[in-house]
This record gives sequence, structure tokens and C-alpha cells, in this order.
Amino acid sequence: MKNIAVFASGNGTNLQAILDNIAKGSLKVRLALVVSDKQNAFALKRAKKAGIKTFYLDPKKFVSKEAYEREIAAQLKKEKVDLVVLAGFMRILSPFFVRAYRNRILNIHPALLPAFKGGRAIKDAYNYGAKATGVTVHFVDEHVDHGPIIAQEPVKVSDAESVVQLEARIHKVEHKVYSEVIGRVASGRFTVKGRRVIFTP
Ligand code: GAR
Repeated sequence: MKNIAVFASGNGTNLQAILDNIAKGSLKVRLALVVSDKQNAFALKRAKKAGIKTFYLDPKKFVSKEAYEREIAAQLKKEKVDLVVLAGFMRILSPFFVRAYRNRILNIHPALLPAFKGGRAIKDAYNYGAKATGVTVHFVDEHVDHGPIIAQEPVKVSDAESVVQLEARIHKVEHKVYSEVIGRVASGRFTVKGRRVIFTP
């Protein structure tokens, strides 16, 4: 079974969905470590409650992004982590880390990339008047919200709903899609050709 690490900075509802799916047996990976850059991230509490090892590391204590990430990478190596799963980790990874884990870092983004990149994607899509948005899971490369797309799930925007309602619906889709995609990637039955991620049966 593959070992994964989840990186989270905030609430950790995606982490919770992953924990629940592992407990149910529908996601067959081992969650070896939860990493956070925020000491008070609720995600860390969720991990501890589930008996998962946590690793908080303060970026301010390091001279550079790379020095910070080298420390994290050493921890991942110790825990024999195969896949890195970003779930609301609000830091951009350096080329050093991306290279070390090429096509082994997944990110979830609450929009249909390349539309609405950045940290406010749901609000941005709503305020733009988009009639459809959604969820993207992609491999992380050297550019922000840019790497090869693994899966996308569209969500229609209803004229009647508030941004808060849209947000809740998108999160619900994220919680379902992310575990499915992590399971598929963990199976290893795919190839990456340029930007295309091709799954084989
Ligand atoms: C999720 O909606 C995720 O897609 C988003 O942060 C949220 C984290 O929620 N990520 C990004 O916007 C990355 N650009 P969570 O902490 O409850 O899982």
C-alpha cells in the first residue's frame, strides 16, 4: 500500500474526507503524515484525533523556502512517503520540492483550471458571473495552479444561490473527488505525456 502525506494550512475538511474514506476502506492508502505550516491549523487537530503523525514546521524559522522544504522532504523520506497530497496548503512549493516529487504531488483547486487560479477561486468565479465552475485535481509543477490535470468535475452555478451556498456545494464535490483521484493515482496505472495524464485500465 502506498504511503501518503497530506499538507494542510487550515480547516482540513479535505483531510477529514480522506481520513474518513481510509477508515471506511474505500481509499486504500496509508496516511503516514500530516504536514502544516500553521501551528493552529484545525487540520492538525483532526489528524491527532485520528491518531495520525503530524509535523508542524514554521517557515519563518528558515532562511529560504528551499531550506524549509528540505527539512520537510527529510521528514517525508523518514516516513517513506510516496505521494504528497496538498489539501488547502497555502504555500507555493519551490522548484527544488517539485523536482524531488515530480508527478507525485497532487493539488486540489476549487475551479476548472486554467480558469480562476489563485486563493479565492470560488468567489472569483461567482463574482465573474460564471454559469459553471468546478473542481480540478492536478499534479504540481513549477507554476502556480498549472500542472498536468488528473481530473475535473464541473459544478453548475445556480442563479438563485449565494456564494456561501456555492462554496458548500464545491467543497462537497471536492471531498468525494479527491479520495477517488488519490486512489487512482496510488494504483500507479497512469502515464504522464506532456500535460496529459492517461489512465490505463
Ligand atoms: C479547498 O477548497 C481547496 O480546494 C482550496 O482550499 C480549500 C481548503 O479547504 N485550495 C486552494 O484554493 C488552492 N489554490 P480545507 O482546509 O477545508 O480542506
